[in-house]
Amino acid sequence: MSRIVHVDGAFLPEEAARVSVFDRGFLFADAVYEVTSVLGGRLVDFAGHARRLARSLAELAMTNPHPEAGWLTLHREMVARNGLADGLVYLQVTRGNPGDRNFAYPPAEVAPTVVMFTQAIPELAFPPAAASGWKVIAIPDRRWGRRDIKTVQLLYSSMGKMMARAAGADDAWLVEDGMVTEGTSNNAWIVTGGRIVTRPTGEAILHGITRAAVLRLAREAQLAVEERPFTLAEARAADEAFATSASAFVMPVVAIDGVAVGRGTPGPLTRRLRELYLEEMRKAAI
Ligand code: PDD
Repeated sequence: MSRIVHVDGAFLPEEAARVSVFDRGFLFADAVYEVTSVLGGRLVDFAGHARRLARSLAELAMTNPHPEAGWLTLHREMVARNGLADGLVYLQVTRGNPGDRNFAYPPAEVAPTVVMFTQAIPELAFPPAAASGWKVIAIPDRRWGRRDIKTVQLLYSSMGKMMARAAGADDAWLVEDGMVTEGTSNNAWIVTGGRIVTRPTGEAILHGITRAAVLRLAREAQLAVEERPFTLAEARAADEAFATSASAFVMPVVAIDGVAVGRGTPGPLTRRLRELYLEEMRKAAI
């Protein structure tokens, strides 16, 4: 069945949706995006995604086409029109269509392009991978330097996924100056010496909305948490490892470069954090 997608104020069957070949999202990856999960027909941590979207747009001097309340209405409309129970709402804002190709930004009157679509994922909360865990490989982080802005420049992340697949793994952890930055599309965590460790925010990683929620929940549960960079060697020797994102929630990582992390099965703290996250997010979803 065809989905109903959103393009610049209109709700259309996906086959009828059009974006110009001159759109800067298409020609320059001059665009930002958000992915918000939906559980039981309700949006998970919507406010966090709306705030990060506003920040990404501001960092690129791009106009935010809607206030937070307008975005919420659009998200709910997308969920309702597509009868979405469990899955994702994707949104993208580009710098629009200036009518020609030009490296310089167009004048402010060129309106941003807004595209939204949904992805139904019935097993979102309970995917088989949550029980078995992900195997990851380590690869050099060759992305640009402003990874805190959620742009659609995702080619190296795609390449990383393909390198992982070629190695029989599920994802790649990116390494820069000996330190793990993050996964191809998720934040990276380890548990070592009874402490939960994840890299601090900055320009080197995306400020994950799931990351922020897991940090808060771990602290509220009186778990020891440390925000500091960690090396690949430390990750390999850790007791547990996991990744967080809006689509994977808290995903156990059971091997790095073919070497088991801990016992090679999802660790107890990881499992507890996944349960805690899902329980709290279901309660707070809007
Ligand atoms: N990816 N780091 C990167 C590079 C990401 O692309 C993502 C999200 C995250 C986690 O952020 P959050 O917890 O806000 O989802 C970290 C999304 C899910 C995607 O591209 O599909």
